[in-house]
Amino acid sequence: MYSVPKLGDYSAASLDQAANELRAALEQESSLVSNDSDWKTFRDRWMARKGGITTQLSDWLKAAPGPAKREVGMRVNDLKARIEQAVESAQQRITSARAGATGGLDISLPGIRRPLGAEHPVIRTVNEIVSVFKAMGYSVAEGPEIETDYYNFESLNFPPNHPARDMQDTIFIAGQESSPQRDRLLLRTHTSPVQVRSMERLKPPVRLVIPGKVHRNDAPDASHSPMFHQVEGLAVDTNITFRDLKGTLDHAMKALFGSSVQTRFRPSFFPFTEPSAEVLVSCIICGAKGCRTCKQSGWIELLGCGMVDPNVFEGVRDNGYDPGKVSGFAFGMGADRIALMKYGIDDIQLFFQGDVRFLEQFA
Ligand code: PHE
Repeated sequence: MYSVPKLGDYSAASLDQAANELRAALEQESSLVSNDSDWKTFRDRWMARKGGITTQLSDWLKAAPGPAKREVGMRVNDLKARIEQAVESAQQRITSARAGATGGLDISLPGIRRPLGAEHPVIRTVNEIVSVFKAMGYSVAEGPEIETDYYNFESLNFPPNHPARDMQDTIFIAGQESSPQRDRLLLRTHTSPVQVRSMERLKPPVRLVIPGKVHRNDAPDASHSPMFHQVEGLAVDTNITFRDLKGTLDHAMKALFGSSVQTRFRPSFFPFTEPSAEVLVSCIICGAKGCRTCKQSGWIELLGCGMVDPNVFEGVRDNGYDPGKVSGFAFGMGADRIALMKYGIDDIQLFFQGDVRFLEQFA
C-alpha cells in the first residue's frame, strides 16, 4: 500500500515522479471504494488530521531546503486539492449507485402536471375566418390599434362632426387639443382604417382580409365588451359588383357555419360604402326555427358590408384607385360574436376574464 516517501533530492524530475506516484495511488484506492465503510476508511487514510496522507505531505514542505520550498509548496497544494476532490467524488459515486439500485424513482410521489396550452377560442375563430378568405386568394393585412382620426374616420368619409361618428362610441387619447383634428389619436373603433392604409401601400387589384382588435366605449354586458375583435375584408379590381360581394359572403358563411346556412342582405348605412348592407345568417342555434339567441326571428345579424364609396377611393386616387376605373367591396364582422355562436356560449365576458376553468375546455 502506498506510503508517503521522504524526498531525497529536490530536482523538478524527482518532485514530478513523487507526485505522479501519489496520484496513481490515489486513483487506484478511490476506485476500490464501494460502500460507506470503504469510503470512511479511504477518507481517513488520506485526510485524517493526524497521520493522514495530506498531513504527511506537509512534512515534504517542512523538510525542503529554502530554495526548493516554492516548487515543493506548489506540488503539495495541488496534491491536497486532488485528494479532497477524490474523496468527495468517491462519496458521490456510492450515493448515486445506491439511488440507481432502487431505481432512483419513487412511483408513489405525485407526478408533475403539465398544463396544456391552447389557442384562445376568439383567436381560433379569427384564424378560421382568415383561412376561409385565404382559400379564396385573399392576403392578410394588419394595422395599428392606436389610430389617427384621419384613418379611423375622415379617410372613410366621416367628415368632422358628422353624426355618423356617433355610431361608434370612441375612446380618444387625452391631451391632444393642440394637434390638428386629423392627427389626433384614438383607439380604433373598427378595422376599416386598414382598408385605406392598405390602399396607400398597394396598387389595385387587392384582395385583403384584415383581423384585429378594436375598442369602443361600451359598457360590458353579456354581448358587449369595450375591446373586441373584427375581421375586415376588402376587394378592389375592375368590374367588381354587388353580386361578387353577395357570392363571396354567402360562400364564407357556409364555410364557417355549414352548407345549410342561408344568408340575407338588408339595406343599411355606412359612410364608407354605398350601397351598404347588413348580412344576416339563418340562426345556427335553432336552425332558423326561432330561439332566444335569434330573438325568435330565425335570423342573426353578423356583419356589415357594401360597395366601397367613391369618396374613399378619392383619398387614394394617386395610387391607382380612380373611382371611374376601379370598384370594390368591403365587409366587417365581429369575430367574438361568431365565436359565441360557434361554441354556444352566452356571455362574451367569459372570453376576457382569463378564467382557466373556462379556457381549458378549449384545450
Ligand atoms: N366597420 C364597420 C363597423 O365596424 C363594418 C363594415 C366594414 C361595414 C366594412 C362596411 C364595410 O361597424
